[in-house]
Amino acid sequence: MTKASTRAGAGGARARRRPAAARAPAGKPGDRVVIRAARRADLDQVIAIDATVTGVEKRPYWLSVFRRYGDGARPERHFLVAEADGRVAGFIIGEVRDWEFGAPPCGWVFAIDVAPEFRLAGIATRMLDALRAGFRRLGVRKLRTILARDNTLILSFFRSQGMMTGPFIPLEMDLDA
Ligand SMILES: CC(C)(COP(=O)(O)OP(=O)(O)OC[C@H]1O[C@@H](n2cnc3c(N)ncnc32)[C@H](O)[C@@H]1OP(=O)(O)O)[C@@H](O)C(=O)NCCC(=O)NCCS
Repeated sequence: MTKASTRAGAGGARARRRPAAARAPAGKPGDRVVIRAARRADLDQVIAIDATVTGVEKRPYWLSVFRRYGDGARPERHFLVAEADGRVAGFIIGEVRDWEFGAPPCGWVFAIDVAPEFRLAGIATRMLDALRAGFRRLGVRKLRTILARDNTLILSFFRSQGMMTGPFIPLEMDLDA
């Protein structure tokens, strides 16, 4: 989970606030987006969005992510895309993990990306809502994620959704000493 979560990469300052009219529930472009399970045919667009955000194209990684999360066979694993006018506008990946770090089962968000041209339209909010609904259906009552400390963009997004600092701290060490 750490790997995908820290894919966050560099954050970015917000260029401008969304106009009030675009934030109105009836008028948001995000309202015209369909959130659905990812399909194999979506992968090229998912890979392209990820490459835009991170600057690295990693097809073998995404094929393996799709094999793990994308077949829909395991209800605790979610790989969702936001589709707008036949295009993949964004994606989210998460999973319910049991007793990781000694904690009762909880839902984790491992990755969330929206293509730059679709941002600030409520699409990430819609995808997170769908993920949360899926987790709730499994009886899970807690959502967690890990993000890069300097990614203020993703931090702003998660804070806007009500997420707060949790009870865990990350630790690491070099293994080549
Ligand atoms: C973070 C990201 C997923 C948000 O997607 P989005 O569809 O634009 O988000 P939403 O429109 O649902 O925004 C919801 C709230 O998040 C916050 N937010 C979103 N973008 C923001 C920005 N650029 N600056 C500050 N706050 C922001 C706001 O509070 C916003 O609510 P508001 O518009 O009513 O103020 C998207 O910008 C993205 O993909 N960023 C880069 C990828 C990344 O770092 N992913 C993490 C990998 S794990």
